[in-house]
Amino acid sequence: MKNLIATLAIGGVAVLGVTGGVYGQSGPPFGQAEDTDYAAKLWSVMEEMGLAGVTGENVIRGFPYEGIEPHGFVLDTLYATATIDGHSGALVVKRNYGPEGVSVEEVQADAAGHLAALTVMFKREDGYDDENRNWFWAKYLPDGSLDKNPAGVELAGRVVKGNAEAGCIACHASAGDDMLYTTDHIQ
Ligand code: HEC
Repeated sequence: MKNLIATLAIGGVAVLGVTGGVYGQSGPPFGQAEDTDYAAKLWSVMEEMGLAGVTGENVIRGFPYEGIEPHGFVLDTLYATATIDGHSGALVVKRNYGPEGVSVEEVQADAAGHLAALTVMFKREDGYDDENRNWFWAKYLPDGSLDKNPAGVELAGRVVKGNAEAGCIACHASAGDDMLYTTDHIQ
């Protein structure tokens, strides 16, 4: 029952977010300086952990498999726990390979040559975004810079909270309560 009440409360907040519509003067809930700063810290931690690229001495290799859009045609997904500013949380790194039509074999032979982007979910502290399981979302290019949406806003933070039709959050909402498609092992 406690869970049910919590779920109802979450639903209520989500509806408010959607009807709130326009983000107002504070801008969108992603791509702000605090988001991009945090994304830079996350990238450094990923580098230290061997999760950022596909080359280098300490790199952790995933097992590439055939993917679907929007993430890419071949993917690998890695699960870890990371610590940023004293907070430890689940980290999921998805390496997205292209271009269209690339095969798993081609990616295995030359991962660096086919790496197109890294999409990342990191579980932040309680209160960061309770309605959406406190995930921090980011999309990096292979050099560690952030990819941008068509409006030129960098993709880091709560992408796109309050918009039921666009962005990481809207799509991942259909993956269930944990917002994860590939696993039920992280809460
Ligand atoms: C249109 C739907 C859609 C959008 C938009 C989307 N994703 Fe995903 N995402 C998926 C699907 C489907 C999977 C499972 C793919 C697979 O088989 O690996 C996935 C998997 C992932 C995973 C692996 C963890 C998991 O859920 O299994 C991460 C990390 C991820 N996405 C991050 C992002 C980020 C960051 C964004 C925004 C920049 C984003 N996604 C936008 C559909 C989407």
